[in-house]
Amino acid sequence: MGLFNIKRTEVKTIGRGKVISVINQKGGVGKTTVAFNVCHALAKKGKRVLAIDCDPQMNFGALFGTIDGEYNIFHLLINSVRELKAMHQPVMLSSVVQTIGEIDVIPSGQELSGFELTVAGITAPRQLVLKKFIEKYELQSMYDYIIIDSPPTLGLVMVNILSASGGILVPFKPDDFSQIGLKHLHEVIENIEEMGVTQTPEVIKYIPNLVEGRRKQDMMHLDAIKSEIEKEFSQDKVSDVFYNRAYFAKSQSAKKSIFDYRAKEFHDVQESFLSLATSIEEWADGQEK
Ligand SMILES: Nc1ncnc2c1ncn2[C@@H]1O[C@H](COP(=O)(O)OP(=O)(O)OP(=O)(O)O)[C@@H](O)[C@H]1O
Ligand SMILES: [Mg+2]
Repeated sequence: MGLFNIKRTEVKTIGRGKVISVINQKGGVGKTTVAFNVCHALAKKGKRVLAIDCDPQMNFGALFGTIDGEYNIFHLLINSVRELKAMHQPVMLSSVVQTIGEIDVIPSGQELSGFELTVAGITAPRQLVLKKFIEKYELQSMYDYIIIDSPPTLGLVMVNILSASGGILVPFKPDDFSQIGLKHLHEVIENIEEMGVTQTPEVIKYIPNLVEGRRKQDMMHLDAIKSEIEKEFSQDKVSDVFYNRAYFAKSQSAKKSIFDYRAKEFHDVQESFLSLATSIEEWADGQEK
């Protein structure tokens, strides 16, 4: 449920507080689409979800139908850096969070593209600003899952997202380049450790998306990538396949998740997203053991 409509004292149970981001430095592979539908799948399972749009393209917030406000995630992040006091804005978290249905959403803004420059001169760890922001507001105790959508660039925003995340979801399009791209992404995740961050996020699932089931090449690439991933991890790390289906775009222009858009016709995709949510829950259980 949206938590900013009720008093803090009424939030009785403590949230699970898992921070999960949807990552791939390649553009247009379905990060925002996956993030949006995963939020809805988790909410369907009764989980308290906070969605944070960390991409200056603002697509994640737009899918939820957030309204452009004066302040967004950029201002909240800058307000979390003591050294940037001169830039602080009189902004309250509750005025930035928008409750859309059962999900709380923190929208992004174009200002976020200037994040790297803005924090360039600070002495505090620049890669931990998002993590500090989440801690400052104790967001993990309020929500079961904090789902972050990321930009298609390997910059400081991405490093901040990785540093704040316990788990990641990696949608990819099985094509010539995805094998190389996924390897590169893996190296970036491992390098996070060297940047003075104690916790390296764990890949929860690689998600084949926009697959052309009738294209032999796509299926061959997919098989090759799958066996490479299986070689690296002992567990099953590849989710159900999501095929290229026009209704994804149609549902998005209607600002609806695949659960709400002509729901009955898309039963299989709903099942796949619910099964992804189950994998996330199982991962979270494993973290708590
Ligand atoms: N399985 C699918 N079938 C058909 N269209 C899809 C599917 N997944 C995503 N799309 C469409 O592909 C486009 C790109 O998807 P999306 O915006 O989620 O990618 P992205 O990785 O977030 O992109 P960016 O890197 O620019 O942030 C969108 O128009 C979306 O509606
Ligand atoms: Mg996106």
